[in-house]
Amino acid sequence: MPKPIRHVFVCTQTRPPGHPKGSCGQRGCGEVFQNFAQKFEQELLYGRYALTATGCLGMCELGPVVLIYPDGVLYAQVQPQDVSEIVTKHLEQGTPVERLLAPETIWG
Ligand code: FES
Repeated sequence: MPKPIRHVFVCTQTRPPGHPKGSCGQRGCGEVFQNFAQKFEQELLYGRYALTATGCLGMCELGPVVLIYPDGVLYAQVQPQDVSEIVTKHLEQGTPVERLLAPETIWG
């Protein structure tokens, strides 16, 4: 397997209703992940990039959350319709999508 140029992690954590932390699952991460997977398949991206559904990334209040390495870029409140832009601009062109960036303050 070739080393991926970028690796996309989509938080797909769920929690029971009423849990104080909430979860990306409650906020629609399933559709976000599905859109990434569909885009990867349609555009034959799996050879160049990797896609992984992951557990909680610790930024639950900002979900759905998407993390991209090696850039260390965290996207917040990602909607299914944002996926295409992330793939085109960030994965393919190397330019993060500014409007979706999580605030730097979250890194403390
Ligand atoms: S549930 Fe997604 S970051 Fe915590």
